[in-house]
Amino acid sequence: MQTEFNVLFIGDVVGRYGRRILRSEIDNIKREYEIDFTVVNIENAAEGFGINKKVYAELEPCADAFTLGNHTWDKQELINEIQAMDKVIRPVNFAKRAPGVGFRLFSVNGIEVAVINAIGRIFMLPVDNPFYEVEDLLESGLLDKAAVKIVDFHAEATSEKQAFGWYFDGKVSAVLGTHTHVQTADNRILPEGTAYITDAGMTGCHDGVLGFNKDEALSRFLTYIPKRLKVCKKNLKINGCVVKIDSKSGRALYINRIDRACDI
Ligand SMILES: [Fe+2]
Ligand SMILES: [Fe+2]
Repeated sequence: MQTEFNVLFIGDVVGRYGRRILRSEIDNIKREYEIDFTVVNIENAAEGFGINKKVYAELEPCADAFTLGNHTWDKQELINEIQAMDKVIRPVNFAKRAPGVGFRLFSVNGIEVAVINAIGRIFMLPVDNPFYEVEDLLESGLLDKAAVKIVDFHAEATSEKQAFGWYFDGKVSAVLGTHTHVQTADNRILPEGTAYITDAGMTGCHDGVLGFNKDEALSRFLTYIPKRLKVCKKNLKINGCVVKIDSKSGRALYINRIDRACDI
């Protein structure tokens, strides 16, 4: 039975151009790295803010699981639509009464995989403690049959992300950071076998501010007058990482970054 299991993780997809490059390139990346399972963070996929039914339908064939973040509810219609999206996972430490689920289990060629989404609390809106929520989930027994466990930790502060990685070292296969939209060069395997990266980066326009037109973003910082941000189109890149995992032990073997320029 297969023991090496290759996971592709893609950082925040921003707007229509992010979606377009993802759709055009994803099969090539999967083939190149012999990917068994794909997770994509899509919290910014609809015009840069949240997701809806239409955007999900467009991206659904690209991945096995989709994660979210602080922009989860930017499109209000998602409150009613999320129940029907059977690959979507929103942060597990959102309010208990919020719709959607914080983890999912998948079965791939006899290998059980758990995907968890959690969100940080430093410089973010108040939520339940992500450390305890994920720990309680791991101890609940609900994920016991899955040796492979992937966590998307969506957080602002590097310190909180690093601390989260250390806390779950040896308890999950990978702690992969999202939210800052800037890929960090600290991908590594922690001592107990957990793959870690502070931030996987962003899929979309890299000649703006977090995927948005720089002029509008700049004007906000210069005047503090709210202005609607629009996604930009230049220097398009897919950011993410590939994690090789031993599917028996759940330990990660390596983690490589992906930073791929794309034309559309
Ligand atoms: Fe984001
Ligand atoms: Fe975010």
